[in-house]
Amino acid sequence: MRKAELPPLPYAVDALEPFYDARTVELHHGKHHQAYVNGLNAALDKLEAARAAGDFAAIKHLAREVAFHGGGHLLHSIFWTNMKPGGGGTPTGELAAAIGRSFGSFAAFSAQLRAATNAVEGSGWGILAAEPSGELAVLQVEKHQNQLLPGWVPILVLDVWEHAYYLKYQNRRAEWVDAFLDHLVNWEDVAQRLAATVR
Ligand SMILES: [Fe+2]
Repeated sequence: MRKAELPPLPYAVDALEPFYDARTVELHHGKHHQAYVNGLNAALDKLEAARAAGDFAAIKHLAREVAFHGGGHLLHSIFWTNMKPGGGGTPTGELAAAIGRSFGSFAAFSAQLRAATNAVEGSGWGILAAEPSGELAVLQVEKHQNQLLPGWVPILVLDVWEHAYYLKYQNRRAEWVDAFLDHLVNWEDVAQRLAATVR
């Protein structure tokens, strides 16, 4: 796996106000996401040293580190681009059609995603994932790496770690989930990710 770098935010830190406050965005991106980048790179360095030494005594620990920090880095990299100022609304085009085929209606999909995300046990993510056939599914991921499905690509990821929302929303996770889906989600980015997955 390649060394990771923190991707720049695609907008100013205060661009998502009032639904996502500048202080949380600043800390979430500059401290939390950066920590996953650092954690992944540290694990990759240790794996390189282990290969050079032929000493894999710590392999179980290092494999977990790659899954946790690598998962955190990759999901956050999608998360930032999944939002935009003036987002929300409903998708159009092929994404709307795919949602209709997989869930029956946008309303049914939205209700399922909100329920799954609100019900994440502890820290995790609500995720819309696609497989290459164009089929869609809602996943409920714990931490950054548990309950993912092999072959299914996250195209919309909603962070419900407390670090994602606690400064503004405190214990009101459902308000954060509603704000993300009603005012922040960038459906054009989600549509592009679906198009890149289908083949
Ligand atoms: Fe996060």
